[in-house]
Amino acid sequence: MPHYLRPEPTILVIFGAAGDLTHRKLVPALFNLFLESGLPERFQLLCIDRVEHTDESIRAYLKDGVDQFSRTGPAPADRWNEFAAHVSYLRFDITDASYYDDLRKRIDETEKKWKANAAQVFYLAIPPGIIEDIACRLGDAKLAAERDRARIVVEKPIGHDKDSAMAINSVLRRHFQERQIFRIDHYLGKETVQNILAFRFANACFEPVWNRRYVDHVTITVAEQVGVGRRGGYYDKAGALRDMVQNHLLQLLCLIAMEPPVSFEADEIRNKKTDVLHAIHPITEHDVAAVTARGQYGPGWLEGEHVQGYREEPDVAPNSSTETFAALKLFVDNWRWQDVPFYLRTGKRLPRQVSEISIRFGAVPHQSFPRESTIGYQPAGLVICIQPDEGIVLKFQAKQPGQHIRLSPVDMRFSYRQAFQTPSPDAYETLLWDVMTDDSTLFMRADQVECGWSLLMPILDVWSQVPPTDFANYQAGTWGPESAELLIARDGRTWLQPTLLEEAPPHKDVENE
Ligand code: BG6
Repeated sequence: MPHYLRPEPTILVIFGAAGDLTHRKLVPALFNLFLESGLPERFQLLCIDRVEHTDESIRAYLKDGVDQFSRTGPAPADRWNEFAAHVSYLRFDITDASYYDDLRKRIDETEKKWKANAAQVFYLAIPPGIIEDIACRLGDAKLAAERDRARIVVEKPIGHDKDSAMAINSVLRRHFQERQIFRIDHYLGKETVQNILAFRFANACFEPVWNRRYVDHVTITVAEQVGVGRRGGYYDKAGALRDMVQNHLLQLLCLIAMEPPVSFEADEIRNKKTDVLHAIHPITEHDVAAVTARGQYGPGWLEGEHVQGYREEPDVAPNSSTETFAALKLFVDNWRWQDVPFYLRTGKRLPRQVSEISIRFGAVPHQSFPRESTIGYQPAGLVICIQPDEGIVLKFQAKQPGQHIRLSPVDMRFSYRQAFQTPSPDAYETLLWDVMTDDSTLFMRADQVECGWSLLMPILDVWSQVPPTDFANYQAGTWGPESAELLIARDGRTWLQPTLLEEAPPHKDVENE
């Protein structure tokens, strides 16, 4: 169980409290923090939405979310009742200034009752189109004025393209200072993602090989089995590049490629990551066809079940050209990474849910072993398993037992579950706690978001100007379109089959066959 320092008194206001994110993620995370003494002693969760609810009915709705989605299972009645005493509901019209005045009064009253100044966190769990409106009204109602205590949390996607992201950032910064703005990319809250920093910078032995001299290429795979489910309305306007690459995959790349930070100050880490984004070789419209691949799933089979194609999903246009799979090749132009390709891919309805980063080292400069010893030789590699398996696998060559020298690839495995014997907190637990304790290290700064968009704009432009002619071009339950295989095969490489961390493959005794 993680050991938390208790945050200062906090009033957490969730806009969109009757929505899916609050139900599936935010309240289950808050409840787990509560169970592990990670919430402040003086804590108020003020739920805001436009629908009719009473305190009682919103509590029942939120408990249902905890029962279904909490990593610790259904809420024990007594603990839930204690937590629920901190929860209240305010029906709200976000377009009416008088409601913000009421909110101000509620906050003032709570602080008076507590005889304490509280952190005031405004969490916007709402569709992206209304972020600006709410931010302005919070600002106009002086709810952003307490620079050290008022915070606003916004979810990705920040914008639909670079211009809209800049417009949102500019409105946010008109009313809040940058240090008051917490832009969530929930991947950064995952334990295994944070562990990339520990692995790289708490061990002196990896840095010397973490560069173009030893690394041949890097692949980053974020594969999902799920389709778009009930999110077709949003997803059909977004697609995989906006939904996953612009944020999650680029953030993973930054953590792999960044220079060592001087300290763990939020801005120091974020500066080093932003340097990577600045160093990525810009993709021109002319390059797009050569360095990207896009796909959309058709009907297929997943784990023995027939699933429908993307165009048959609810709220998706029947002739949609939105990509549900994207792959790209990037280069980071700096001394450390010049000419090392980074291949990124993500897609829905792929055969397995798996997120992992694979660092493939180059071959030895001279192969001393006889040819027959090296059949099936693979250069060493390191796989960082983000989810669902959590850990790291070092793949290297070993001598098979026997009289002859025969090399065989073997794995050395670190599993979080086995090493620490404790479940990892959910990303939202970490991130909510960080907001309450005012630590913005794991949140995206405006310049990072805008840099990510700048990089992807030429791809988005070309993809919208030249609609795909072959969609749906991969069957649900397969590893994506052929063009993604070709993207990497053209360089003489392959996407590796994802590593199964928990199950070591049985050792095959080739010698005795
Ligand atoms: C979200 C995307 O940001 O991340 C979803 O909008 C995606 O489309 C999800 O399914 C994946 O998150 P996780 O934590 O399940 O890998």
